[in-house]
Amino acid sequence: MKVLYVSNEVAPFAKVGGLADVAGSLPQAVARRGVDIRVVMPLHRSCPAIEQCSVPLPCLSVQTPYRALVASVLQSTLPGSDVPVYFIKYDPFFDRPDPYGEGGTDYPDSPQRYAFFARAALALDHALGFRANVIHANDWPTGLLPTFQRLNPHGRPTVFTIHNLGYQGSFPLTVARDIDIDPTSPAMPLVQLGARINYMAAAIRSASVISTVSERYATEIQSSGSGHGIDDLLRDRAGDLHGILNGIDRDDWDPSDAPRLPAAFSADDLDGKARCKAELQRLVGLDVNPRIPLAVAVSRLVHQKGLDVLAEVLPRAVGRPMQFALLGTGDEKLERLYRALAQANPGRVAVSIAYDEDLARLHYAGADIFLMPSRYEPCGLSQLIAMACGTVPVVHSTGGLADTVSEAPPDQTGFVCHYLTPQDLLSAITRAVQAYETPDRWRPLMVRAMRQDHSWTKSAREYVALYEQARRKHAGG
Ligand code: ADP
Ligand code: GLC
Repeated sequence: MKVLYVSNEVAPFAKVGGLADVAGSLPQAVARRGVDIRVVMPLHRSCPAIEQCSVPLPCLSVQTPYRALVASVLQSTLPGSDVPVYFIKYDPFFDRPDPYGEGGTDYPDSPQRYAFFARAALALDHALGFRANVIHANDWPTGLLPTFQRLNPHGRPTVFTIHNLGYQGSFPLTVARDIDIDPTSPAMPLVQLGARINYMAAAIRSASVISTVSERYATEIQSSGSGHGIDDLLRDRAGDLHGILNGIDRDDWDPSDAPRLPAAFSADDLDGKARCKAELQRLVGLDVNPRIPLAVAVSRLVHQKGLDVLAEVLPRAVGRPMQFALLGTGDEKLERLYRALAQANPGRVAVSIAYDEDLARLHYAGADIFLMPSRYEPCGLSQLIAMACGTVPVVHSTGGLADTVSEAPPDQTGFVCHYLTPQDLLSAITRAVQAYETPDRWRPLMVRAMRQDHSWTKSAREYVALYEQARRKHAGG
């Protein structure tokens, strides 16, 4: 089995959110199952320089119906593995400060950038003589790949994974010409949604099979309340839509082998966690106090994450003995809101407006409680990382959060708020703080959270089965 895995973000080369974590770790787990899997991504500005890569091809000619563009290709591997990663280097499109856009808005030429990327990934597969049996595309930037394959008489089976239905790549109809899709061609009914071109819709209609990143989210997105306006397309494909839970790279996030943390710790020896907590408190300017429960959030600051609801109850939450530290960037209004909360609660609330991997690790390791009140959450990796670090999650019961965190004894791993109202959220936080105050309850809870198996083992097996299913389906089986 040969799989071409296509993603706009791959950790550690370019990361905006969890998609990068998945694209950097799932292919390794799939490769361990004997699959020849290769990763393709654009060469974003944060990716390695040419001196750190090999050059597998002299150049790559990317043919579109109207013109050919010439890109170059750099090659590296996913760290710690021999899974190849190919970077498509085309600076006019990808040598930019951010993979998607600026100030929360996609670059105006996004349709062209990703139409080009989809075509370049296919051209690369051909030029390398790889001829993947399955093409695995991820989220809207790769949404045209399944459509191009479906319309090609020699097209290959495709798996399309939805990581977040809230971002669809929806553009005015006029972009059809800019992306070399003739409005009278058979591609048009696949890419058009009402008076727009929609990359996510194109993929949902065209892929051999579709997956998303938790079972609960697979069900939720088929309902009008959570389907972001395209639930009908998903219901049409209900038989081909599968929920496969994300894993995390346990080695990467293991606090017992953590050179980037001030102290290591494990479920058997938690002493180092106290040092991480003291260091986090010191670094972000909270009162250094081992006894007060420390809650954190590490998040993109966007509406999805429900942090506006948290902001409403935070003054009351930290009125009890609790501290809070936020690490995040994004929406300016949320940044301002949280800065004001930090100013009003010195020593109790700390806010770091930054994207910082090492600081994120310290938050996960040093905290007692992880807050994730997302309005919706396809899977969520942050709560899994927190649990691996013995930081007990408080979550809204939605999507992957509902599938990975339970408040029900005897298997309790966290605290769950069933309705995302300020009252319910405050009540869940209060239950967590009360549990913290009873060490006989808290320690077993931390240890149980740490011992959850969120490795990729099971899900990688499910993806391989999905690749086989895509091949059968494509062959008409
Ligand atoms: P999403 O993909 O919706 O952002 P996930 O929970 O799946 O949510 O993944 C988020 C990933 O991004 C995690 O690896 C998290 O640690 C990381 N992350 C989010 N915000 C920051 C930040 N400000 N600094 C460093 N890492 C961050
Ligand atoms: C998206 C989702 C998040 C998920 C991640 C990786 O960014 O918002 O829930 O964990 O993709 O699949």
